[in-house]
Amino acid sequence: MRKPIIVGNWKMNKTIAEAVAFIRAVDPKVSESATWGVATPYLALEKSKAEAKNLIIAAENVHFKDSGAYTGEVSVEMLKEIGIEWVILGHSERRQYFGETDETVNAKTIQVLSHGLTPIVCVGETLDQFEAGITENVVREQTKAAFKDVHASCMERVVIAYEPVWAIGTGKTATNEIAQNVCAMIRDQVSQMFGQEVADKVRIQYGGSVKPEGLKALLEQPDIDGALVGGASLKEDSYVAMVENLG
Ligand code: PGA
Repeated sequence: MRKPIIVGNWKMNKTIAEAVAFIRAVDPKVSESATWGVATPYLALEKSKAEAKNLIIAAENVHFKDSGAYTGEVSVEMLKEIGIEWVILGHSERRQYFGETDETVNAKTIQVLSHGLTPIVCVGETLDQFEAGITENVVREQTKAAFKDVHASCMERVVIAYEPVWAIGTGKTATNEIAQNVCAMIRDQVSQMFGQEVADKVRIQYGGSVKPEGLKALLEQPDIDGALVGGASLKEDSYVAMVENLG
């Protein structure tokens, strides 16, 4: 019912030339088994988008205002002008290093949805929070905050990425059981806010040290509809291995 969605998050990697070369090589190889995509640095978006026929191309961030005195920022209109329809919001690295808060993630989510783009909204607990056993509380609160005042009709197309911070770039993957439990809990939270029908349509990804060989089993979990993939999305052969693993 929910088509899987796998998106590579390139973070601050790849020049424009490298991005274009990757897309030329990988784009013809992605299959109908899922929605496949990559989130590229801003500078690579336009040429990546022009090159991609199958892959969706996402931005890694956007500002919550239309325009104005926000030095260094990029607006939704600027993304739309080059055909970008997808944006990652609230990645833990943005929260940790760039002052992103639940409030800014909420403002960005509303901005992106009201302009017709689709956000991939990231939530997830830190290692301290995981060890303190408060994952559920943290992730429910992040989800509640991110989608405050969002209209139910927009909510259906939202993608949520559950990324435990302790699993990002560390090689420590959450077990499929942990990932499933938290993703089910996120869906329950969406259901409490927007009703079961909407919750059944929202796609929920897991992210954090996802490897090609683990992808199929991960996606067999009933509430996991995809993956947000950092390191393993950077090399062409590793990306293609994910496509092949899913079959
Ligand atoms: P990773 O990154 O796959 O390298 O752990 C995931 C992410 O940050 O989205």
